Amino acid sequence: MKIAFIGGGVMGEAMIRGILNKGLTTPQDIIVNDVSSARLASLKKEYRVRVTDDYGIAVKGSNIVVIAVKPQNLAELMPELEGRFTPGQLVLSIVAGAAMATIAKGLGHRSVVRAMPNTPAQIGQGMSVWTASSEASQRQKGMARSILGAMGREIYVPDEKYIDMATAVSGSGPAYIFLVIEALVDAAVHIGLPHEMVEELVLETVVGAARLAQETGKHPKALRDMVTSPGGTTAQGLLKLEEGGLRDLLLRAVIAAYEKAKELRG
Ligand SMILES: NC(=O)c1ccc[n+]([C@@H]2O[C@H](COP(=O)([O-])OP(=O)(O)OC[C@H]3O[C@@H](n4cnc5c(N)ncnc54)[C@H](OP(=O)(O)O)[C@@H]3O)[C@@H](O)[C@H]2O)c1
Repeated sequence: MKIAFIGGGVMGEAMIRGILNKGLTTPQDIIVNDVSSARLASLKKEYRVRVTDDYGIAVKGSNIVVIAVKPQNLAELMPELEGRFTPGQLVLSIVAGAAMATIAKGLGHRSVVRAMPNTPAQIGQGMSVWTASSEASQRQKGMARSILGAMGREIYVPDEKYIDMATAVSGSGPAYIFLVIEALVDAAVHIGLPHEMVEELVLETVVGAARLAQETGKHPKALRDMVTSPGGTTAQGLLKLEEGGLRDLLLRAVIAAYEKAKELRG
């Protein structure tokens, strides 16, 4: 499988690392194009992949062309790529907010997969939600699935509207959790725990709680009840979170992110 990357930034690199770690293809069959020659040199050194500053060389002969530039660079990029694709090729876009129709029209190519990964993809723990245009073949969808699966878990959705919804939950979600982690660390220091231990304490708690929910398959409420003794410390802490409107706040955050995702898509 020959894969081209247009944009070798944080997410492009996460994909390259995952693909090579899983042995989906060889470094020689990966070619990266980026506007930054320093970035290309660094990727070549680290992963032994091929690099080019020529869009034509990147696209020609590749089975899959991954578009991994920032949303604000997409409009200037698409005319550069338009007309370079052959019918058997698949475009896999991870550009947030860019609709499949926009990509297909801008590139003059109809076989498109649109995916929304998230940053834990950098360590193979990503969550990608993806969909495909009706022109993408089963074989192409299989290739997209294996590439996205190389960065963690992947879920196919039949309707593009779920990509905008997932953007607000799993796409932006790591940032919500990082804010919670930050706040918990500050709170722990506030009550007097030493700096050296709080980060580990908080991170292990977040990871452990998520793993417990995942591995037991129990409802979060049931797991919460297990640590909440009547009249105890956890009940007291939870009361403050409920009084402060944590649930409502998260609801409003997700709705606001979703509205923004729809607005970006146009
Ligand atoms: N980070 C996330 O959590 C996340 C999650 C899901 C999806 N995404 C999406 O993934 C995409 C990439 O994000 P990222 O965080 O990897 O961004 P990034 O680190 O900025 O990487 C993008 C790379 O593309 C290069 N580039 C810009 N314009 C180009 C052009 N016309 N041709 C070739 N290369 C070009 C950039 O160079 P310069 O830096 O010199 O401009 C940069 O090296 C975005 O569209 C984002 O929405 C990100």
